[in-house]
Amino acid sequence: MKERIEEILKYTTDTLNKIDTSAECQNLRVEILGKNGKITQLFRFMKEVSPEEKQAMGQLLNTAKQEAERMISSKEVFLQNAELEEKLMKEKIDVTLDLNQEEVGALHPISIDFMRMAEILNGMGFSQIDGPEIDYDKYNFELVNVPKDHPSRDMQDSLYITSDILLRTQTSNTQPRAMEKIKPPFKVFSFGRVFRKDEIDATHTPAFYQLEGIYIDKKVSLADLKHDLSLILKKYLGESTKTKFRASYFPFTEPSVEVDAECNVCKGKGCSACKGAGQYEILGAGMIHPRVLEMNGIDPNVYSGYAFGFGFDRFPKMRYKIPNAKVMFENDVRFIKQFK
Ligand code: DAH
Repeated sequence: MKERIEEILKYTTDTLNKIDTSAECQNLRVEILGKNGKITQLFRFMKEVSPEEKQAMGQLLNTAKQEAERMISSKEVFLQNAELEEKLMKEKIDVTLDLNQEEVGALHPISIDFMRMAEILNGMGFSQIDGPEIDYDKYNFELVNVPKDHPSRDMQDSLYITSDILLRTQTSNTQPRAMEKIKPPFKVFSFGRVFRKDEIDATHTPAFYQLEGIYIDKKVSLADLKHDLSLILKKYLGESTKTKFRASYFPFTEPSVEVDAECNVCKGKGCSACKGAGQYEILGAGMIHPRVLEMNGIDPNVYSGYAFGFGFDRFPKMRYKIPNAKVMFENDVRFIKQFK
């Protein structure tokens, strides 16, 4: 028995010397100490050992078992550590590497210009509100005093979903919506898409952007409108840009004006950008019609207000010299990426 134990321990030491993975240590443990392991089997012979020898033999076997376990474990731990180190070396991250980064988006030229405009308006005390792109005929037309037979209500121009719900044709739908929610005095603006049936060409698209401004308070006058709009346009288009106010007509304002700005490409001489006019029409505005105030629950004898509406696509188109209106809403990343 003694010789057999020594043989097994020598076998264990020799095998451990050849082993170079922790998995092999596991196998060796099974071979020596497992259920049918070499040492485990020796325990079975204990039955045959004489009672006088039993205690000494038992001790010998237990010591051998512990010794085998100690040898295997220490080599196993050593190999496990080495394996972990190797794994970490292989998986290490080089933080100085120039990674192939995920694509980062860019802002659409309309968003860039809108952010500039929003900053100007915020600075003048306007706060932003939102209106729905799909709205009731009531908000889009009726409550801004567009009579039932007005040509702009024509099914030919407007995109109706049902007989009284349509894709808004103007951001002016935010006027009654604002008056419904906020009590005067207030100064708000709203920006978003509007929709009209239109064939796509270089200057027309069925969806485009508008910006609407509304100011209602006691004693708001045409002079306030002229002052505020001139200031907005100077800040937005540049100090030297010449603007011209002329009388016009809109159902929701009285009196109504339209504002022309000198073409910033040819400086008023006339070119292809302004179709030879030297100027272009940039917005409609006016004093909110007393009927509109009244229909929306505001007493026109106490309050007055102004409103203005820009077509917004034109400015970024001119600023970035974009020749085609279509690319403005196709959202092709190759186009948008240029405006980072
Ligand atoms: N809603 C008009 C349009 O789409 C633009 C407009 C004109 C808005 C005069 C206004 C305004 O608020 O006062 O053509």
